[in-house]
Amino acid sequence: MSGGTALVTGGCGFVGRHVVSRLLAEGWDVWVIDNTSTGKPPEGWVPAVRTIRRTDGAATYVCPGGASLTFIPGDVRQVLRAAIDARMLPPFNLVCHLAAVVGGRMKIDGDPLAVATDLSIDAEFFNWAIRANPDRVLYASSSAAYPVDLQESEGHVALREDMIDFERGRLGMPDMTYGWAKLTGEYLARIAAQKYGLHVACVRPFSGYGEDQDESYPVPAIAARAARREDPLTVWGSGQQGRDFVHIDDCVEAMLRAVEVISDGSAVNIGSGKLTTFLEVAAMFARLEGYEPEIKPLVDKPVGVQARYADPSRARQLLGWAPSISLEEGFRRVLEAARRRHASPLEVV
Ligand SMILES: NC(=O)c1ccc[n+]([C@@H]2O[C@H](COP(=O)([O-])OP(=O)(O)OC[C@H]3O[C@@H](n4cnc5c(N)ncnc54)[C@H](O)[C@@H]3O)[C@@H](O)[C@H]2O)c1
Repeated sequence: MSGGTALVTGGCGFVGRHVVSRLLAEGWDVWVIDNTSTGKPPEGWVPAVRTIRRTDGAATYVCPGGASLTFIPGDVRQVLRAAIDARMLPPFNLVCHLAAVVGGRMKIDGDPLAVATDLSIDAEFFNWAIRANPDRVLYASSSAAYPVDLQESEGHVALREDMIDFERGRLGMPDMTYGWAKLTGEYLARIAAQKYGLHVACVRPFSGYGEDQDESYPVPAIAARAARREDPLTVWGSGQQGRDFVHIDDCVEAMLRAVEVISDGSAVNIGSGKLTTFLEVAAMFARLEGYEPEIKPLVDKPVGVQARYADPSRARQLLGWAPSISLEEGFRRVLEAARRRHASPLEVV
């Protein structure tokens, strides 16, 4: 995609920081709206050569090469509502809507009404988007939108995009309020495309992971325990539950390809197709760390569905995409980052 002006809502979050960094490296001028409820403010991660601060709290970071990041701190709902009347945002060539209350399994199961805020964020977002009419919009849905009954220990299947079928009204029970919100967000995206002509793509990432992910997520959490050489090395639940892990760099590549080729609000999986259990995750980190701990399940912890993995066919056909970073390589990078943090606990990644 050629450069221009992009907006990334939730651009200070885990996925957002990687999307923003990639766009800046490609010469885009990027705007970010984020309330930093879980995100990290740009000073910590943007390679700015100059910073222009505004009295309203916004700031523009000029990067080497001239691309800039303009950061508007605040709740995306309020900022977008105010922006449409005050014309305070430029026209955008690309908008990536990532702002959401996410959190790990503890948040999804433990505070479902806080997560339901996503319904309100997405409703405000699409109402803004149809009025602002950016050239392209990416909606970050999730694999959590898939029916949970397809993800049980017996009879689980690789999740295929058409297992959510709005046209025929074939929908199942998604994963908690998080899945409901994402399913509804996808429906809004389709309406925005069909009734208002918005060019919008939905993506369903499976378990994205990376070096700078918060330790409330399983991969960095298990890596941190392995880096500390904990024995026993604990995993949540029986550890038999599995996920489809994708490195964040691969995830971002798929997202940017999707928004180029999908315009009708339909969705594509971002997953490898491979199911890896948490016992296997722990075993891999122990091996990479070079020790042999007892791997101990913590059965009182929340675990979510048993088996969640993608059918990667549509991504391959439509986007020409498959993950390029193996689990071994990705986990090695995460472990190295965890070791650095362990050696120097104040280091911010
Ligand atoms: N990480 C994954 O593997 C994954 C998988 C599937 C879907 N997703 C989706 O990708 C998006 C980003 O996820 P993430 O993992 O980076 O989560 P994250 O929590 O790291 O990022 C979310 C960002 O949104 C911001 N935010 C939350 N509420 C806001 C509000 N009201 N106004 C402005 N900013 C707000 C947070 O401060 C944070 O920076 C989410 O929509 C998530 O559902 C992520």
